[in-house]
Amino acid sequence: MVHLTVALVAPLLAAIANAFNYDQPYRGQYHFSPKEHWMNDPNGLLYHDETYHLFFQYNPGGIQWGNMSWGHATSKDLTHWEEQPIALLARGYGGNVTEMYFSGSAVVDVDNTSGFGKDGKTPLVAMYTSYYPVAQTLPSGKYIQENQQAQSIAYSLDQGISWTTYDAANPVIYQPPTPYQDQYQNFRDPFVFWHEESRKWVVVTSLAALHKLAIYTSENLKDWKLASEFGPYNAQGGVWECPGLFQLPLDKGKSMKWVITSGINPGGPRAQLRVSRKCNCQLDGLGPDFYASAGYNGLAAHDFVQIGWMNNWQYGTNIPTTPWRSAMSIPRHLSLKTIGSKALLIQQPQEAWSSIVKKHPAYSHTYKSIPQGSVNVGTTGETIKLDLSFSAASTASKFAIAVRASADFTEQTLVGYDFVNKEVFIDRTQSGDVSFDTTFASVYRGPLAPGNNDMVKLTIFVDRSSVEVFGGQGETTLTAQIFPNSDALHARLVSTGGATKRVDLNVYNVASAWI
Ligand SMILES: *[C@@H]1O[C@H](CO)[C@@H](O)[C@H](O)[C@H]1NC(C)=O
Ligand SMILES: *[C@@H]1O[C@H](CO)[C@@H](O)[C@H](O)[C@H]1NC(C)=O
Ligand SMILES: *[C@@H]1O[C@H](CO)[C@@H](O)[C@H](O)[C@H]1NC(C)=O
Repeated sequence: MVHLTVALVAPLLAAIANAFNYDQPYRGQYHFSPKEHWMNDPNGLLYHDETYHLFFQYNPGGIQWGNMSWGHATSKDLTHWEEQPIALLARGYGGNVTEMYFSGSAVVDVDNTSGFGKDGKTPLVAMYTSYYPVAQTLPSGKYIQENQQAQSIAYSLDQGISWTTYDAANPVIYQPPTPYQDQYQNFRDPFVFWHEESRKWVVVTSLAALHKLAIYTSENLKDWKLASEFGPYNAQGGVWECPGLFQLPLDKGKSMKWVITSGINPGGPRAQLRVSRKCNCQLDGLGPDFYASAGYNGLAAHDFVQIGWMNNWQYGTNIPTTPWRSAMSIPRHLSLKTIGSKALLIQQPQEAWSSIVKKHPAYSHTYKSIPQGSVNVGTTGETIKLDLSFSAASTASKFAIAVRASADFTEQTLVGYDFVNKEVFIDRTQSGDVSFDTTFASVYRGPLAPGNNDMVKLTIFVDRSSVEVFGGQGETTLTAQIFPNSDALHARLVSTGGATKRVDLNVYNVASAWI
């Protein structure tokens, strides 16, 4: 009887889920976006019970930032997402918002260290920043100042669908550590994880304006002790946000290295990266639209995946999409690899590509040499993957493919390589609608040395409003939004300043992940 009910209800629910039409202009077809309203940072990324959870900063009441709550989506494969009910709704939503739920992370408390478990159900615990727009005394008795940010927890006993805030003691990290208490308005973004060696929970938080990270440990997720602080370090412009602290295998696991990341805002496209003691690398070739990246808890270090917010505070609230704003990047698998004697962070697209990418290329061509000028590729789909490789021993100064171009190429997005400076670039100066912000029409670059046999390899993902490039083995990635006309579907190869040799191009259609 029970089975019959499930069998009847499941297809019905699926039909309801799919009833939403994800076919708007600019709606990414294989990038997650909410049905409607404003979204920013990915939060609480957690793999549990064969499900990938993606929570996100969300305004249930508008298409601008505000009423910050945690939205929720789930996936079995990091490709097909289903939006779920709001996980944490701003307290007082609809009238007098007294607490917003800012960015944070989530863990499975397998050993019930928190005591939140009940009736044999394992608790999921989220740790987030409480932002209090008004001064108030909380149920826990703690006095909160206007605009205070502090770290709180909530738990779920139903697979992340509904959450209970720990009102008896929230916020569990009430103030920044001494002597930084004056930073109570800029203390946020807890990333919590289980540290097996010390059998403790560890959380890294950001003292955003000081460019410092404060690291705490706990045995029960409720009582936290300051363990250390980190920074300022490397890039110190703007504020540090959304820190990450995790281990990655170097060279397929010859050794494990600790990595610290942090987003820098403004200054947009940068993330800061320090790998253990020896190597510290600044990751500044990420392109304009990859921010606040966060990693998954619940995956082995070899399977580490991160997702970034595919937007930018510079113009993010003005992008011409409706009825939603912002999408997430393609989930990326992360690892470290020694390339040219340096340990580099390697990013690879981590999606169930085989299920949505066509097996056979829609277009495939090899050219011995493309002389200065251009070669038409014809028209492509709106959502495509391109594999492009060519010889670094070319006489050209630049080589690029123009995608999402109008028939006369007055509108186009160029993705290519600068042989002189050894850089991959995205040029979106003529990419379609660039009118909503004066800085949007720009060129973005990232360093990329040629690989084996002196070949340059680019893997390019084009969706309805984005271009993501993975250069070489994934040591350089650039992510940029574009807002082309829906009929801008032409493509061509362009060699500048000389010939480009040994060009190989394959274009694959990508199906929608919403269907
Ligand atoms: C917050 O939500 C309320 C209720 O839906 C809405 O009236 C208000 O405009 C929202 N605020 C913002 C900044 O979107
Ligand atoms: C909003 O809630 C806070 C905290 O409970 C309270 O101090 C304040 O008076 C409320 N404001 C309004 C307009 O209701
Ligand atoms: C977790 O701990 C609480 C508090 O001690 C207890 O009531 C509950 O039964 C435990 N739950 C599980 C699943 O072990």
